Amino acid sequence: MPERIAIGQEADFVDKPVKRVDYETHRVVVVRIEGDYYALGDKCSHANFSLSEGEVYEAEREIECWKHGSTFSLLDGKPQSLPAVKPVPVYEIEVESGTVYLLIPEERQK
Ligand code: FES
Repeated sequence: MPERIAIGQEADFVDKPVKRVDYETHRVVVVRIEGDYYALGDKCSHANFSLSEGEVYEAEREIECWKHGSTFSLLDGKPQSLPAVKPVPVYEIEVESGTVYLLIPEERQK
């Protein structure tokens, strides 16, 4: 079973659509675009910099690493430009009664 972690209310994301979540060994960036939620591993696959500090390209559904400019697909975590070549992990989000939950897949739990 995935572990379900409450990470905030939907209203929080309306004002601030990008949020970094630290939970146990997981460091995740959660992005809300037009009511949809996306969640990726926050650590750039090129080096240890936070994607949550980068620019979000809503139309492309991508987030940019501010350090060297690689963009990552919010849909599948794959880099869309160099220098990063490896994907970052993708997480699922659920929303229930206005609360936003991050799902940690069983294989990635401690
Ligand atoms: S650290 Fe992210 S692209 Fe280099």
